[in-house]
Amino acid sequence: MYGNEYLLKMEGISKSFPGVCALDNAQFHLKPGTVHALVGENGAGKSTLMKILIGVYRPDKGKITLKGKDITINNANVALGMGITMIHQELMPVLDMKVYENIYLGREPTGKIFHLVDDRTMIRNCKQLFGELDIEDIPPTAKMRDLPIAWMQMVEIAKAYSYNSDLIIMDEPTSTISEKEVEKLFRMIRKLRSRNIGIIYISHRIDEIFEICDEITVFRDGKFIDTDLVKNMNRNRLYSLMVARDLSRYFAKTEHKLGDVIFEVKNLCLENKFHDVSFSLRRGEILGLCGLIGAGRTEIVETIFGIRKATSGKILYKGKELQIKSVRDAMANGIALATEDRKYYGLFLELDIKQNITICYLDHISKHPFLKPKKEIELSSTISKTLNVKTPSMTQLVRNLSGGNQQKVVLAKWLLSDPDILILDEPTRGIDVGAKSEIYSIMDNLTKQGKSIVMISSEMPEVIGMSDRILVVRKGQISAELDNQGQSVTQEDIIRYAAN
Ligand SMILES: Nc1ncnc2c1ncn2[C@@H]1O[C@H](COP(=O)(O)OP(=O)(O)OP(=O)(O)O)[C@@H](O)[C@H]1O
Ligand SMILES: [Mg+2]
Repeated sequence: MYGNEYLLKMEGISKSFPGVCALDNAQFHLKPGTVHALVGENGAGKSTLMKILIGVYRPDKGKITLKGKDITINNANVALGMGITMIHQELMPVLDMKVYENIYLGREPTGKIFHLVDDRTMIRNCKQLFGELDIEDIPPTAKMRDLPIAWMQMVEIAKAYSYNSDLIIMDEPTSTISEKEVEKLFRMIRKLRSRNIGIIYISHRIDEIFEICDEITVFRDGKFIDTDLVKNMNRNRLYSLMVARDLSRYFAKTEHKLGDVIFEVKNLCLENKFHDVSFSLRRGEILGLCGLIGAGRTEIVETIFGIRKATSGKILYKGKELQIKSVRDAMANGIALATEDRKYYGLFLELDIKQNITICYLDHISKHPFLKPKKEIELSSTISKTLNVKTPSMTQLVRNLSGGNQQKVVLAKWLLSDPDILILDEPTRGIDVGAKSEIYSIMDNLTKQGKSIVMISSEMPEVIGMSDRILVVRKGQISAELDNQGQSVTQEDIIRYAAN
């Protein structure tokens, strides 16, 4: 092959941004035909290292060797030409184009006459490509926009494969997809591996790493910590390499007495999405909402929060019926929703951290019409410290934060508005184990103060570890209500009621 066993060697890589050292003399070695996990807490430098590999950033220092040759990568096209592709943490397909158009974007085959774009060939090639990768159910002619996120991602991976890549980088590929779809993705990954492709797999889901990866490399604070085979690694050792502090109380739930029913939903319906949804929520309670992706969980909470308009049904707060016609109405009644899709709904990427955090709280930090800048900084830094947002200052643009730190800013924003009913949609998606544990303890503290939480989550250990009660949603209906005192519900219980 190429004179040594490595497909890729990155050595002595350093990279600083103003005020942040993202990578400090880091290294990473990848063998062909292996799946290699890159793990570490939020802000450890994982995405930055990968962006260096595909030429988005230039390293300040360091050497990259691909198939035994020293290389310099100036931009993503050069990387692509060398057989390196990255599936980004936040997917970026062209939503208004069709699936096959996305795959062949920029390299469309043209017919002999007039050099017109040859759609029929593209569709045929696309079908063949999907067949090879076992994803025939994805229709090549569908609009990208209409596909579930999991499928969009598989399309992106198929696209990478079609470029004859030797090295595919997946940055948190499973953070937005359900367990069933994860299985499918893993089948696809195994197929790629059997074709000798090297895969770099970034994820915060430790279970999945043990299932799909061959090797693990750990980063902490921009530094390389260790590499080992997965079969030599165990969970505790991995946690301590990543976090370097004790995580023995991972789920921070403490027992406390629940109060009266404070919030009720009665026979709520939204045409074609869900029907007859009823549940109550007690003061100090955490209610877990689980189900497969597409079951209607997000639509239910979006309706409660006034983003969608219910076809029928009632919402009651302290026994009084609420008229929620807009998000403003919901917020005025002490309801907050931290959304699942932080990039589109939760954050203003071009604003800085303090502006994002205080945006729903402007009345409190201004003396009309003037903003009190000191107060703005004060409030946002206190809450950012509690959540451990990793940043040099409150004036950092949210765009520049690592994925997990962006998620913490979404949470910070809603916590600041001090709601009675806090709805969290996938609150720890993309967040590292240390920060997850911090978020659990924040949730626990809030409920001790008498706040109530509805938590949507696709991570079953989290639902079971944190909820007092669990509702399972299946095909737009509540299929089970499970009492989870003493964390007695099992994953099998949930799967039984969630399965289609
Ligand atoms: N363009 C940028 N400008 C300024 N700082 C940046 C930029 N990109 C990354 N950083 C900072 O560099 C550090 C490493 O970020 P990186 O995105 O590599 O982390 P990560 O390991 O991928 O984390 P996560 O698990 O949260 O995605 C963070 O402190 C981040 O805020
Ligand atoms: Mg990242």
